[in-house]
Amino acid sequence: MIQCPRGTRDFLPDEMERRRYYEGKLRSVALRFGFRETETPIFEDAELFILRSGPNVLNELYAFKDKGDRDLALRPEMTAPAIRMFVNSMSNEPKPIKIFYFGQCFRYERPQSGRYREFFQFGAELIGSATPETDAEAIALAVAMIESLGLRDYKIRIGHIGVLRQKLADAGVPKEKTAEVLQKLDKKLYDEARPMMEDMNIGTHDVEEIFELTETVGGIEVIDKVPGEPGEYLRSLIGILSAMGVEDVEIDLGVVRGLDYYTGMVFEAEAPVLGAEKQICGGGSYTLSELFGGERVFSTGFAIGFDRILLAMEKEGISYEQKGIDAYVVPVSDDVRIKAAEITAMLRRAGISCDMDIMGRKMAKALKYASSARARFAIIVGKNELEQDSVTLRNMASGDQEIVQITELAGSVQG
Ligand code: HAM
Repeated sequence: MIQCPRGTRDFLPDEMERRRYYEGKLRSVALRFGFRETETPIFEDAELFILRSGPNVLNELYAFKDKGDRDLALRPEMTAPAIRMFVNSMSNEPKPIKIFYFGQCFRYERPQSGRYREFFQFGAELIGSATPETDAEAIALAVAMIESLGLRDYKIRIGHIGVLRQKLADAGVPKEKTAEVLQKLDKKLYDEARPMMEDMNIGTHDVEEIFELTETVGGIEVIDKVPGEPGEYLRSLIGILSAMGVEDVEIDLGVVRGLDYYTGMVFEAEAPVLGAEKQICGGGSYTLSELFGGERVFSTGFAIGFDRILLAMEKEGISYEQKGIDAYVVPVSDDVRIKAAEITAMLRRAGISCDMDIMGRKMAKALKYASSARARFAIIVGKNELEQDSVTLRNMASGDQEIVQITELAGSVQG
């Protein structure tokens, strides 16, 4: 038997209904914040990701050559594609450009619970603005989205990658090595970062200071430890967030992010209930457009790991009630099948979700199928009732039945 490839999943109808429902919630929040939806190709020139996605993503890239010998890659994330699209066709539009997207990404990772090779991101980008309000808007949107799903236990951690980058530069870490060091710091792999920096002749004192910086976590008071402009910036950001009702955030200078393009504020959301793979959202401010042949513009964005947040909700016991259909039409005998088809079509035209028995089942079996389809009503089409232009309407939950005129059927089902 052929199975789906390792790290990928099939979504059966029940799960798909749940996913679409929550995806719809996220979409409506994004629209409410004035963002508009976009879509980019699932594969891109591999170069788009190689240019600036950082060593983590590169090792995980699904890259291949097509029949025309082009180097392509399945997208591991959607920020680089969004900025490519901006440079190609949106750069003259009034700023800021506020877009969002939902779709699958691919990373060749070791699959485990909450970590897949094909996974879905719901993300947003605010392109062409570099104010604290921009960053606040992105964080506030992320929070509103998470809240809209009803997830209770999550934490927002806000940092500033500029502080760490400056510290690394001051200590003498060469620019071309910064991404590698940051990658280790992101995962708090100090034992691997230490020899790496020693090889670069970074003094022990500096190394320890760098580690200490990544361990600087706490409330707003932590900002006092952030020197110069980044400190001022974070203070102002926290003020705006608070005005927007986003108060419950942590300052964490150890938020490093796995991707290489961030320049300033960075943030993550985590759901402790998930254990090891608890990061449900990540983002920050960055510049990428100049790499893709455009002008340098500042942007801020984030992506929610859709699969992970759904997993966290499940673990919190947030249950989703399957919708089912409004009505299931059961012809009692062969000679009323045409009439049953007519009634089904009539109800569908009236906007009622309606299905009918197409397998010639006996009543008991047909009603069982109607239950499994979670139909609210069964419509039993029998010869005797048809003579009075009527059918039997059965409430599936209570079992109550009544005779209803066909002309009034749509109204009765809609209640
Ligand atoms: P990221 O942190 O690499 O950021 O991914 C965002 C989210 O996608 C993660 O927080 C996680 O929830 C989810 N995720 C990542 N890898 C996997 C996986 N293998 N399986 C399941 N979920 C996963 C970005 O991708 C940036 N483009 C975010 C961004 C947008 N930054 C600025 N704009």
